[in-house]
Amino acid sequence: MPKNTKFMEKLHVLDKTFAVSIPEAEILKQVRRVAAEITRDMEGKSPLLLPVLNGSFIFAADLLRQIPIPCEVSFIKLASYQGTQSTGQIREVIGLNTDITGRHIVIVEDIVDSGITMAHMIETLQAQNPASISVCTLLLKPNSLKVEVPVDYCAMQIPSDFIVGYGLDYNGFGRNTKDIYTLVDE
Ligand code: IMP
Ligand code: MG
Repeated sequence: MPKNTKFMEKLHVLDKTFAVSIPEAEILKQVRRVAAEITRDMEGKSPLLLPVLNGSFIFAADLLRQIPIPCEVSFIKLASYQGTQSTGQIREVIGLNTDITGRHIVIVEDIVDSGITMAHMIETLQAQNPASISVCTLLLKPNSLKVEVPVDYCAMQIPSDFIVGYGLDYNGFGRNTKDIYTLVDE
């Protein structure tokens, strides 16, 4: 089977079909660019990078290897559960086993869509009095934003379509690809 045929560029995940929208080479080029920006801004600050599981595991692995300054890394997760109050969902940052007081924090996220997840994350971390909080996201859907989120480092902006690959999933599947794929209408 020859490479680069239409067949090779399509990806089937569960009941949906996706097509390559951002090839690996372009992703890695933009990852290197934001890594250089973080390196420049965080030099001498000994930052603590907080990649958000699960979606950012591949992005974080590529990003971190391009940041040569001293830094710490701690993977975190935002756990959502229903509270007993009528206010609905409570979100809690889990996995953070380091005191972040006075630290320069860089949150590493896969995608900022409505921005609600990131806004909660910033609010929760802010309560622990870090020196600064920066947001680094692989992807941003600017037309989907519902709340204001300060994004300091953004590898790529994309339209409001659903995507998978390079760590991002559709119902748990589709994370394990080198390229990023967009949902196509059948
Ligand atoms: P937000 O709170 O709406 O910004 O949602 C962010 C989260 O939704 C991300 O961390 C992803 O887990 C998920 N998400 C948003 N858009 C996509 C997408 O296109 N593909 C896969 N997951 C997505
Ligand atoms: Mg996520």
